Amino acid sequence: MTQTINAAQSGTFKIGGELEVVRLGFGAMRVTGKGIWGESEDPQEARRVLARLPELGINFVDTADSYGPGTSEELIREVLHPYPKGFVIATKGGLTRTGPDQWHPVGRPEYLRQQLELSLRRLKVECIDLWQLHRIDPQVPADEQFGAMKEFQQEGKVRFLGLSEVKVPEIEAARQVVEITTVQNLYNLTNRQSEDVLNYCEQHGIGFIPWFPLATGELAREGSALDRIAKKLGAAPAQVALAWLLRRSPVMLPIPGTGKVRHLEENTAAASLSLGDEDFTALNELTA
Ligand SMILES: NC(=O)c1ccc[n+]([C@@H]2O[C@H](COP(=O)([O-])OP(=O)(O)OC[C@H]3O[C@@H](n4cnc5c(N)ncnc54)[C@H](OP(=O)(O)O)[C@@H]3O)[C@@H](O)[C@H]2O)c1
Repeated sequence: MTQTINAAQSGTFKIGGELEVVRLGFGAMRVTGKGIWGESEDPQEARRVLARLPELGINFVDTADSYGPGTSEELIREVLHPYPKGFVIATKGGLTRTGPDQWHPVGRPEYLRQQLELSLRRLKVECIDLWQLHRIDPQVPADEQFGAMKEFQQEGKVRFLGLSEVKVPEIEAARQVVEITTVQNLYNLTNRQSEDVLNYCEQHGIGFIPWFPLATGELAREGSALDRIAKKLGAAPAQVALAWLLRRSPVMLPIPGTGKVRHLEENTAAASLSLGDEDFTALNELTA
């Protein structure tokens, strides 16, 4: 019953205390080709996925200049521009690409600026809602990278700023220079190495965007607690993994990625799956 699926049932979060998004969003990395390189093997299905987002109540999409590179942002503009009212696009810069599955941090301010300009052009906007530094480049002083972010914001080219794959001291260092409104780190039921970062974000009202939210292969196996709970609730394992994330913290903004409408609908339906205390505790204990 796809017409009853509505991401809005996951609740909302205000980025920077101002920009309201529906918590269950979409990660637009998988609308590109193998190795996140070039066009999708099924570009028409990728277009259908993007077109379906507003219909499913999703208004928060995460992308990056490096997905394709360029392909994801271009497809988002092609399918969704002019964007529906309240539609929020988060993009990133700071990783350059030399081939499929190859990613290299480049944090020189002039490179970050070039990539921001390209994102603005590809997305056809005058201001990026949320611009995230994809990685802090260890070869460039961090303050130069944060300083560039500050300039983007002061020039009105970016509304809010975020970081990706960072530790608490790095967030604190960045907050000396700019307001950090979101952090995007690897986090899911099976990988909770960023638990301290999540707790820090919760304390400071910073949105936490878990990437690889569905890395649940191990847990989805026959007989696992996730599989048992999914069967009990009549849900797919991916939905249980997403419902667990949504319940774990009010600042959690999951962005499951897919190139398939069927998976998008299945994932979005997790917005209405509420986990009871017993199931939530059992899932917590899987990786505690
Ligand atoms: N900041 C960073 O460094 C970083 C790194 C990686 C990703 N990200 C962001 O995080 C988003 C999410 O990460 P992700 O897309 O890599 O991982 P994910 O959401 O954990 O999983 C996506 C994978 O699971 C499959 N899938 C999705 N829904 C499914 C379902 N219901 N049943 C079975 N399989 C399903 C997808 O394949 P199909 O296409 O076949 O459905 C895809 O291969 C990305 O889109 C991107 O925006 C950020």
